[in-house]
Amino acid sequence: MMQVISDIASLRDIRRRWQLEGKVIGFVPTMGNLHHGHLRLVKQAREVTDMVVASIFVNPLQFGPDEDLAAYPRTMAHDLAALESLGVDVVFTPQVEDIYPRGLEQQTFVEVPGISYMICGASRPGHFRGVATIVCKLFNMVQPNHAFFGEKDFQQLQVIKAMVTDLSMNLKVHGVPTVREGDGLAMSSRNNYLTTDEREIAPALYRTLQSVADAIQLGRRDFSRLIQEHKQQLMEEGLKPDYIEIRSAQSLLHPSHEDTHLVILGAAFLGRARLIDNIQVELHE
Ligand code: PAF
Repeated sequence: MMQVISDIASLRDIRRRWQLEGKVIGFVPTMGNLHHGHLRLVKQAREVTDMVVASIFVNPLQFGPDEDLAAYPRTMAHDLAALESLGVDVVFTPQVEDIYPRGLEQQTFVEVPGISYMICGASRPGHFRGVATIVCKLFNMVQPNHAFFGEKDFQQLQVIKAMVTDLSMNLKVHGVPTVREGDGLAMSSRNNYLTTDEREIAPALYRTLQSVADAIQLGRRDFSRLIQEHKQQLMEEGLKPDYIEIRSAQSLLHPSHEDTHLVILGAAFLGRARLIDNIQVELHE
């Protein structure tokens, strides 16, 4: 039977019991409004670990003042049913006051320098500090052996891996491939913001990134020009590009000639939604 727990003390009690029984713990942190992308994380956790904890917490610390914290879709009953059907053992559903008892203003932060300030971090100041802080806190509460994050949020995954390394955290972080709709659109809770017409246009982001990836595979190395051409293409398709970037998949820095593992990252505005996506490219030269 799946247990739904909202207080930290009860979570720690269960965790302690599992520890004594020698169980390996998997953790899938979420902000709820679960889709197939999240469910794939849970399935992966189920395969790799004995006991699976998922959390549902819409983290105010990672939203900017003009962002969609209030509008962020909250679908607790649906989420709990989905998690139960996948055999999750515990769902942790804390309140903001439990997580930030001294208030957001006084909160101690975890900040991963460098990587947090570029690409999405440049468009969303403070976002990755909010993510690193909540993920660190949740790791402290759940104390998992393995944690699972979607590759759709590629930069988030790299920030979390860097935090785990820098703070010597004793767990393995798994990146899980993006789950897409039939037309290529990456699954995301924010797809709910799209109108019917916008939903038709939205897969253009994936197609555009794929076109950049194909051009690189065919030998194009004039990256600035390639990016400009594809931003133009996005605009013609009806999206407002925030960025398209071609980076080293390891460091997220601009790639050197030696880099053979690249990632093409894109973000674009469409109506009320800001869509993000990425594609990894392996060069065989
Ligand atoms: O990817 C998300 O849903 C969130 O950023 C996370 C990792 C649950 C932290 O709030």
